[in-house]
Amino acid sequence: MRNKIVAGNWKMNTIVREGVALASDINVSLKDINLPENVKIILAPPFTHIAFVEQVTDDKKIIIAGQNCSSEEQGAYTGEISAKMLKMIGCSAVIIGHSERRAYFCETSETLAKKTEQALKNELTPIFCCGEKLEEREAGNHFNIVKNQISESLFNLSEKNFSKIVIAYEPVWAIGTGVTATKEQAQEMHEFIRKTVAEKYGNNTAEKLTILYGGSVKPDNAAEIFSMPDVDGGLIGGASLKADSFVDIVKAIL
Ligand code: PGA
Repeated sequence: MRNKIVAGNWKMNTIVREGVALASDINVSLKDINLPENVKIILAPPFTHIAFVEQVTDDKKIIIAGQNCSSEEQGAYTGEISAKMLKMIGCSAVIIGHSERRAYFCETSETLAKKTEQALKNELTPIFCCGEKLEEREAGNHFNIVKNQISESLFNLSEKNFSKIVIAYEPVWAIGTGVTATKEQAQEMHEFIRKTVAEKYGNNTAEKLTILYGGSVKPDNAAEIFSMPDVDGGLIGGASLKADSFVDIVKAIL
């Protein structure tokens, strides 16, 4: 059975005090929910919050993730946070290649391949983001764009390492816009991603791959999107900043 994941990406929101309150509210609400073995909940707070959030969450129920990590191992890289630093502070996963990082911080496929390598080396699960811009979809290029993003950054991995990856399909036009992909659009792309992975790594690896959808997932549309056969959960931005709405989205996957 595939792992299902609901992950909250807080982005650059909340100060520590607010983040701790949010995490602890989520933690309390999850206490009453019986999570099946294959359902994982992830929180990705800002770096400055991680040590504190870690203390108020039950690590059997909540996995902590970084929102980014350095492509380098260590050294003179002012301002960077390494994968090892994340691991040592209690993270088990890291988001890699979010479209905001690609767009505003000029992250290329090559950089993202190195970040993925660092994450894997330090036993962090990479949540690798991909997704097309609106003009790319309108030009009918969305499948090619997503295939290239995945193959350029991940297809150098061994099958064993690839099997540790989680992919998040996040169409850029749906992120933070309130416009969600329809469940058919999400399913179509997720199925395509699985097929692309099957061609490279075989059906077995592709069948086991967890593929999340991200982009304006809210409590009122989560169940519909999660009902699609190739959608294995969601990467949630705005709606993860309120405990109630995040927990409602978690309930939608059960
Ligand atoms: P959103 O963000 O849910 O606010 O659209 C999703 C994301 O960027 O991961």
